Amino acid sequence: MKKVLAIAGICIALLAILYVQLKPGTASADPRGNAYAGSKACARCHAKIADSYLHTAHFMASMPATAGTVHGSFAAGKNTFSIDQNQKIVMEKRGGGLYQTYYVDGKAKDAHRFDVVFGGVKGESYLYWKDDRLYQLPLSYFNRQDEWSTSPGYKFSFVDFRSIGKRCLECHVSYVNEMPGEKQQLSRDEQFDKSTMVYGIDCERCHGPGAQHVDFQTNNPQVKTAKFIARYASLSRAQRMDACAVCHSGIHTSLLKSTFGFMPGDTFAKYKLPEFQQHLDTTQLDVHGKQFQLLQSSKCYLNSKMDCGTCHDTHQNTRGNDVLYAQKCLSCHNNAGHTYCKMSNKLGADVLKSKCISCHMPELTTNVISVQVADKAPPVRFFVHTHHIAIYPQEVKKILAFINK
Ligand code: HEC
Ligand code: HEC
Ligand code: HEC
Ligand code: HEC
Ligand code: HEC
Ligand code: HEC
Ligand code: HEC
Repeated sequence: MKKVLAIAGICIALLAILYVQLKPGTASADPRGNAYAGSKACARCHAKIADSYLHTAHFMASMPATAGTVHGSFAAGKNTFSIDQNQKIVMEKRGGGLYQTYYVDGKAKDAHRFDVVFGGVKGESYLYWKDDRLYQLPLSYFNRQDEWSTSPGYKFSFVDFRSIGKRCLECHVSYVNEMPGEKQQLSRDEQFDKSTMVYGIDCERCHGPGAQHVDFQTNNPQVKTAKFIARYASLSRAQRMDACAVCHSGIHTSLLKSTFGFMPGDTFAKYKLPEFQQHLDTTQLDVHGKQFQLLQSSKCYLNSKMDCGTCHDTHQNTRGNDVLYAQKCLSCHNNAGHTYCKMSNKLGADVLKSKCISCHMPELTTNVISVQVADKAPPVRFFVHTHHIAIYPQEVKKILAFINK
């Protein structure tokens, strides 16, 4: 009987929590301040967008680490990474937490918990908290090969291998409050108030604060047009590009102020120092993270009004949908009377359509992310679709060889 009562009590408590969270109009306090409502509040009226958004890379950009969000295996036989004969790192579940434990000659020397997950498309990297500082765990998970790998740049030293500063967080979380104080100049050992972390790239990170919009639309359900929320449709092309460039123009920018404050309509140039010349040279641009500069160097971009939104609906996961992307190309390249691609007489229409991006935006290796899946194994580099849309004779050869096989 006691047990039944206890269970009933727990259920009531859970329902009460759920009620408070879902009750219309009660935007839960957002760490960014009262102007923000939090993504949960948006879902109430924008249910379709909110649902599809849950499958996007932006939603997954960062999450609390749990058995459900860490995808590497903890099963015996698959949970060990040997550094050499004497040293290894073992992925362990214990006391309700997930840990990377460092062993020397069979003795556990140090262990750190998986606290935060970054990514989940190609690779996952993990962070742990040590007081108010964040560090990256030495091992990451390489999704494509379904294997544990070293974290990029890892140099086999287990203790506090790499501190994670605000710069990583500015692109991979929506907000975290930096604590004032002891920060050393030029050091990345910033301290954060972990209770203020807003995971993922959320609705208001891209749309700006929405509490007033939520209140207005809630209290005026008869009004079918939006009030008090930034309108992308009325932004200039440069402003729309900047809203993506703030995170998609690479990690080599020196910021003047935090991009956590960036709002749609802002000019990114006001947040940073001018780029170094070597970072503008299109032949040197890395395919990882520099979509903004690469696209801007393409003839498609220079000779049209395209922006990132021409090909990407950021609320949906369209990864791998090559035919959908071909339709985007053909919205400009199918002018009547033109052969839009000089290969069109060599390939069947279906092949051509399913492969525009393989030939013109091929997956190339990045120099930024390289990992090792085993001791002494050669480094593996991540593949990323380049956004410099052009003619790549090498890639064309590969495709033709593959098709004619
Ligand atoms: C009480 C209902 C309601 C809530 C809650 C709500 N919205 Fe809206 N929103 C609307 C209505 C109505 C429109 C106008 C019709 C449309 O575009 O869907 C709108 C339009 C928008 C637009 C399009 C603006 C434009 O014209 O380009 C954006 C962006 C938007 N909302 C973002 C948000 C975000 C972000 C949140 C959460 C912080 C949110 N909304 C919460 C009702 C709501
Ligand atoms: C606050 C930072 C931020 C902003 C702003 C941002 N992105 Fe991203 N975006 C990311 C990060 C981080 C990832 C990688 C997430 C991951 O894989 O975990 C990403 C991934 C993507 C992807 C890859 C999707 C996939 O499934 O592989 C696309 C496409 C993309 N962003 C487009 C855009 C566009 C278009 C805009 C502007 C409307 C934009 N992003 C604005 C941070 C941002
Ligand atoms: C990575 C940035 C990004 C994120 C995250 C994001 N949006 Fe958007 N959203 C955009 C952009 C860019 C547009 C303009 C699209 C266009 O006009 O081409 C847009 C348009 C909209 C619109 C109006 C047009 C439409 O498609 O109906 C609504 C409503 C909206 N977003 C709501 C949301 C909500 C709710 C969330 C969170 C669940 C969200 N957005 C998350 C970038 C983002
Ligand atoms: C200027 C923004 C920016 C900064 C700073 C940044 N990243 Fe990223 N990160 C991105 C974008 C954008 C992507 C995905 C798109 C791509 O591959 O170009 C990404 C991808 C990743 C991925 C792969 C995700 C996946 O799903 O495959 C990991 C892991 C990652 N970043 C970790 C980090 C870490 C750790 C730091 C700090 C040392 C960092 N990033 C700093 C923007 C950033
Ligand atoms: C918004 C319209 C638009 C879209 C969408 C578009 N392009 Fe283009 N593209 C152009 C224009 C305009 C040119 C320049 C034509 C010229 O110079 O005569 C161009 C040029 C090109 C070229 C020639 C590049 C060179 O260096 O000679 C290729 C290849 C190309 N586009 C492929 C693509 C592919 C593949 C896609 C889809 C992933 C695409 N385009 C999407 C407008 C577009
Ligand atoms: C002409 C069409 C087009 C435009 C414009 C475009 N993209 Fe993409 N983007 C693509 C295609 C195609 C892919 C590959 C999708 C896939 O993996 O299936 C892609 C992939 C990405 C990825 C994931 C990279 C990878 O390979 O993992 C990111 C991030 C991204 N785009 C960001 C952007 C940003 C930011 C902009 C604006 C600066 C932009 N894109 C403009 C077509 C476009
Ligand atoms: C098998 C590889 C391959 C595929 C698939 C492919 N292209 Fe091409 N494309 C090429 C090559 C090679 C050229 C350059 C031919 C030349 O200059 O002789 C080219 C040229 C172009 C040009 C420039 C034409 C000009 O007059 O200079 C455009 C635009 C283009 N392609 C668009 C597309 C689009 C859109 C698709 C998908 C519907 C596509 N291509 C599919 C290989 C390919």
